[in-house]
Amino acid sequence: MITVNQLSHHFILGKKKQETTLSVLQDISFQVNKGEIVTIVGKSGSGKSTLLNLISGFIRPTEGGIWINDQQVSDLTEAEFADFRLEHMGFIFQSFQLIPSMTAFQNIELPLILKGESESSRKKITLAILEKVGLTEFADHYPSELSGGQQQRVSIARALVLNPPLILADEPTGSLDSETETELLQFIKQLNQEMEITFLIITHDDEVAAIGDRTITISDGRIVEGARSQ
Ligand SMILES: Nc1ncnc2c1ncn2[C@@H]1O[C@H](COP(=O)(O)OP(=O)(O)O)[C@@H](O)[C@H]1O
Ligand SMILES: [Mg+2]
Repeated sequence: MITVNQLSHHFILGKKKQETTLSVLQDISFQVNKGEIVTIVGKSGSGKSTLLNLISGFIRPTEGGIWINDQQVSDLTEAEFADFRLEHMGFIFQSFQLIPSMTAFQNIELPLILKGESESSRKKITLAILEKVGLTEFADHYPSELSGGQQQRVSIARALVLNPPLILADEPTGSLDSETETELLQFIKQLNQEMEITFLIITHDDEVAAIGDRTITISDGRIVEGARSQ
């Protein structure tokens, strides 16, 4: 599902003449197989979010290649990557990233609008997903009228609405209390088993790391454990 090959990344800091480079990832190689849940752990600043942003195409690698479903995505243009993301990846963020002026229904419907679905098909799909995440009666609520756990469910529904084979998550439970976290983890497991969705999840939380079929440990921009499935 994902192949990362000899990936390195540095950021350039400061203005011309006084530029310095900050090396963040070095020689990262690993694979994620279809149907796996892989968790990525490591100290703050070790390069986890940068790695996820590279796989998501929000930034381009300094060196190395990334393949998703046999497509070399590290070569795509920004516009091509935007289309590719819609088809292939869903995202879950720590901060939910919902649009405050839109209801739960409208937030979930948004990717379908971007994809050009008709209004009737959007309505049908959005209502089905709302039911799947248990939020039917909250369809017309704005994010500010929902609990943290409910907001995260809306964001997961939005990630699921285009049926992506892969979901990428950066600290998905970072803003949730422990009871809500446990519920969310069970839901992720369920999606993985019932819909065969592959997950790549960054976390610094042991309970989250434990749901992974495999855990990759990053330290100072290098993989120190877990690159290969056993
Ligand atoms: N856009 C950026 N420009 C410059 N430096 C960055 C940028 N994004 C992240 N960094 C730096 O890269 C390092 C790794 O950050 P990050 O990938 O966010 O780590 P983690 O998610 O593991 O906490 C940090 O030193 C951070 O300051
Ligand atoms: Mg991070």
